[in-house]
Amino acid sequence: MPLHVGILGCGLMGQRHAAGYHNLPERATIIYCCDDREDAARALAQRSGDNIRVTTRWQDVIDDPAVEAVSVCMPHHLHAPVVLAALAAGKHILLEKPMAMNLAEARAMVEAADRAGRVLMVAQNQRYLPEHTHIKTLLDEGTIGRVFAARIDGNQLLSRIYPPGHWLFSKATAGGGVIRTTAIHKFDLMRYFIGEIRRVAAFQKISGLNPGMDCEDVAVILMEFENGAVGEAFFTFAAQRAPIPTATGELTALYGDAGMIHNVGGWHVYSSRVEKYSGGMTHLGLPNADYAATFLNEVRHFVDCIESGTEPLSSGRDNLNTMAVIEAIYQSIDTGQAVTVEKQNPPNP
Ligand SMILES: NC(=O)c1ccc[n+]([C@@H]2O[C@H](COP(=O)([O-])OP(=O)(O)OC[C@H]3O[C@@H](n4cnc5c(N)ncnc54)[C@H](O)[C@@H]3O)[C@@H](O)[C@H]2O)c1
Repeated sequence: MPLHVGILGCGLMGQRHAAGYHNLPERATIIYCCDDREDAARALAQRSGDNIRVTTRWQDVIDDPAVEAVSVCMPHHLHAPVVLAALAAGKHILLEKPMAMNLAEARAMVEAADRAGRVLMVAQNQRYLPEHTHIKTLLDEGTIGRVFAARIDGNQLLSRIYPPGHWLFSKATAGGGVIRTTAIHKFDLMRYFIGEIRRVAAFQKISGLNPGMDCEDVAVILMEFENGAVGEAFFTFAAQRAPIPTATGELTALYGDAGMIHNVGGWHVYSSRVEKYSGGMTHLGLPNADYAATFLNEVRHFVDCIESGTEPLSSGRDNLNTMAVIEAIYQSIDTGQAVTVEKQNPPNP
């Protein structure tokens, strides 16, 4: 029997998740599409198969005992109430990032998932990008030795992606701007690549290039990792053009005591340890920013974890430490001080 899935929120990401379930026709089937814009729910339902129910009320999906799992792809302020209700009803959850509006909400979700004995996975899709999987292997093999520094960068123009007045422009519905919505991807990725982040110091700006936006669309963040590495991050939703020649305007550069990795002009590695990479920065010929693949990979991983009863790579439990980094960044902005990240160690159930 395939897993019966409900899609909650049929916008950009709801459609991506739906593609992930379509890719597993034997193992998962969408039985409900929900969006408060009925046309959006109906359009996705029509594209997703026959006899798919449509509703504008997320409670209908959660109340239906036939639904075993839900993809939550809704505005951030709805993540906690929807996920808590869905877990209480015994659903498995694939939840879009950011997990929540704050760390307290995220903790409550992990506790609820443990009580319910259900999978709670956060859709940190950059962990499932094929080249990132390869880079993680190179790092684990010691190809560039001990990583002592990192630079990350992201450049988008929000008003080019979403219409004016969209919920992502408002702190009340998004919980913040470029930090909570986008930089979170790379902080999660840095935790995956390098280890936990111990301390951050941050500055923010509202550029005026995103009309009506009431939270930060530029952020500059310094970080120190528990292993002593240091890093710098620059993220903006106000880049009229991408200033860095990478596939998506996002930079990742890692400095190790035995080499370097970066993604400028495609993924490159230099290693003083591994002969084939020792001649200079060597182009790895990896797939580059195949984001469509990430959604297929993450949905497959979610279904794998439900079937096998294992904890996801990007579980809610793991994500608490990503959420703690975001919390510390906003505290740093508020206080003008460097802030120590409140490390989360929730016990396994
Ligand atoms: N992983 C990524 O690369 C990535 C990219 C973009 C967005 N996201 C995340 O995905 C989530 C959704 O973002 P999006 O870009 O799909 O936004 P979106 O606005 O395109 O989609 C959200 C949908 O939720 C619907 N909605 C709003 N209130 C609702 C309610 N009460 N009941 C039912 N439906 C409701 C909206 O009508 C909309 O269709 C967010 O958490 C966002 O941060 C992730």
